[in-house]
Amino acid sequence: MVRLAAVGFLALLCIALSVSAYSEDFEEKDVVVLGASNFTEVVNSHKIVLVEFDAPCCGYCHTLALEYAKAATILKDDGAVLAKLDATKKSHLSLRFQIQDYPTMLFFVHGVHEPYTGGRKVHDIVAWVKKKCGSPVQTLKSTADAEKTFEVETPITVAYVNSLKDTNAKAFAAAADMERRVPFYMTEDKEVAAKFSLEKTPSLVLLKKQAEKVVLFEGDFEEMTLTSFVRKNRLPLVITYGRGKEELISMRGISRQFFLFAGTEEYAEIRFMYEEAAKFSKGQITFVFVDLANHMYASFYLDYFSLSGEKTKLVGYVEGACGSKFGYEGDFSLESVKEFSGKLLENKLNPYFKSEDIPEKNDEPVKVVVGKSFDNIVLDESKDVLLHFYYPWYGYGSGEATRIPSEQEFGT
Ligand SMILES: *[C@@H]1O[C@H](CO)[C@@H](O)[C@H](O)[C@H]1NC(C)=O
Repeated sequence: MVRLAAVGFLALLCIALSVSAYSEDFEEKDVVVLGASNFTEVVNSHKIVLVEFDAPCCGYCHTLALEYAKAATILKDDGAVLAKLDATKKSHLSLRFQIQDYPTMLFFVHGVHEPYTGGRKVHDIVAWVKKKCGSPVQTLKSTADAEKTFEVETPITVAYVNSLKDTNAKAFAAAADMERRVPFYMTEDKEVAAKFSLEKTPSLVLLKKQAEKVVLFEGDFEEMTLTSFVRKNRLPLVITYGRGKEELISMRGISRQFFLFAGTEEYAEIRFMYEEAAKFSKGQITFVFVDLANHMYASFYLDYFSLSGEKTKLVGYVEGACGSKFGYEGDFSLESVKEFSGKLLENKLNPYFKSEDIPEKNDEPVKVVVGKSFDNIVLDESKDVLLHFYYPWYGYGSGEATRIPSEQEFGT
């Protein structure tokens, strides 16, 4: 009853807020309304879509709505779609995009997104989106231009082509249009190219500030090959887990991940080795470092891998293609990490699960099964097995202890 009353109160509050915020009438005709069922279709079928994740109950969203609606009308002529989605309606979308505050705005180009970082007034929104819609490739004409690019923080990609108008240049521009999270530069000047150690045409390099500073492209100058090269290489060799990075990792299209749990100082000692090992299976395994000093994230992943209670601080894990976990044992030397990676790629590892040791004596009429002996005893095809799951601390196994939570309780 108390809960119902609270829900009722919130609903009233919500209505009251909406009424007051809507006192100024305006048209939202150019804002596309999205739902969980048509989100992907709309976002993938337009080149440029800005999506606002909002909540009917949020005051800020109403303030933004008027500005957003006006911007939608202006930007329509530039071919950009402004859309909104009610993020309070439970769907996989809020989880997938980690929507925690309202309103959150994400900018999609060909279905690939980045956060919207502009302001909340009409002219801010219009200016930000227009800038993003402009040519994604900048031409480098002088060595002075070239030097300026080194001041850019993010990884950058530079192409040396015979002519800014040839087919290679076109393929490069098309790739730049597909992957807007990395700045693309192009030159036809020999001296400028030399600044990036590019000697022949066409050639391309990705420059980073991390361990692996220069990644040279090898292959045909073709839109998709170039795009996937940049996508695979734009992230650092080792990713430190933190807010918002999960999405980056799945974007990379690699499902095998290697988790290293360590304190900041411990990591400093093995970092070089870990990055070397990452180079060895680049493009096949994503190497992640979870900093135990970042408690919030560390505890989430420690729980996920059932490592919470364990004292070990330095453990490598891999999430295989189907979500299997594989434990890493042994010392942290380049050779053993490489060997482990190799076995993982060849599917030669045994999945890890938390288990007690197999009991030495097991000759009572009721046999004891632990994680490690589950397959041998329970899945033994020659026997019928009746299995009782119980919590040791739960008196005599009542129904409640083994009850399976309903879907609602899981919140799915
Ligand atoms: C998408 O779905 C929502 C709700 O499911 C609906 O209100 C909206 O009109 C749809 N939008 C488009 C563009 O089809």
